[in-house]
Amino acid sequence: MALLKNQVALVTGASSGIGKSVAIYLAKEGASVAVNYHSDEEGAKEVVETIKNSGGKAFAVQADVGNEEEVLKMFEAVYDEYDNLDILVSNAGIQKDAPFDEMTLEQWNAVIRTNLTGAFLCAKQAVKFFLKRGLVEEISKSAGKIIFMSSVHQEIPWAGHVNYSASKGGLTELMRSISQETANKCIRVNSIAPGAIKTPINEDVWKDEEKHKHLLKLIPYNRLGEPEDVAEAAVWLASDKSEYVNGTTLFVDGGMTLYPGFINNG
Ligand code: NAI
Ligand code: BGC
Repeated sequence: MALLKNQVALVTGASSGIGKSVAIYLAKEGASVAVNYHSDEEGAKEVVETIKNSGGKAFAVQADVGNEEEVLKMFEAVYDEYDNLDILVSNAGIQKDAPFDEMTLEQWNAVIRTNLTGAFLCAKQAVKFFLKRGLVEEISKSAGKIIFMSSVHQEIPWAGHVNYSASKGGLTELMRSISQETANKCIRVNSIAPGAIKTPINEDVWKDEEKHKHLLKLIPYNRLGEPEDVAEAAVWLASDKSEYVNGTTLFVDGGMTLYPGFINNG
């Protein structure tokens, strides 16, 4: 029995990497999926084709998640297409790395805008819809589900990436506070915190043999993650299997947050 039968999902930043895999996995479980992209229309169309070729339902929708007008239009497009929404996976994210003393305001603003403000703008529209629509018991035990794509760097400080870690730390309290505010309306809000997953965002690291070797020292499970590792977690968090899971973060990181530096006695 498909876990997300008759449900509608919107996945932001779904033309590549983790978002792409999440979109495909949600569709495999029966959800109709809106595949949001920023500029890679070709990538988004491929995701839609992949889903349709497996018998699923999907369409591509352009929007910059940091732009409120575009976010409003994106949600309208979802309602026009599917007349419903059950799941938001707020996944779009970027890095603009620099040593702290050299980080420009532009680099700071760009990352906060996409990773944190984008999550706020999308979650706000989703919650508005979930509150208005309410619980539809034949579809799900929850009135709506939001999953934020956070990072191990909501917890692990990250030198040279303070804008990014600050955005993910902010996302944690955004998630927990929305959850506190909406749990009594049967809306579930949670985060996934991936470790090092092989995607375009960090390919400069995992495609380089030396850097890859060094990165493995930070992962007790001794392999990098694949987008599918995260997609499996997203399916579970979006489904009724996790009905009683509210306002928490699921780490999918091969143990990266286990202080691997202490493995040999510190
Ligand atoms: P990615 O670069 O393949 O995906 C990011 C996606 O966000 C891209 O499709 C990009 O077009 C989209 N995007 C960027 N700015 C946007 C905007 N303004 N509006 C709409 N979409 C926008 O990299 P990845 O790894 O798949 O990243 C997805 C999420 O996972 C990000 O939030 C990232 O911070 C997070 N993450 C990634 C990890 C990794 O190791 N790959 C680990 C922890 C978290
Ligand atoms: C970053 C990746 C990094 C991973 C583990 C993610 O949040 O986007 O670049 O490899 O964390 O450090």
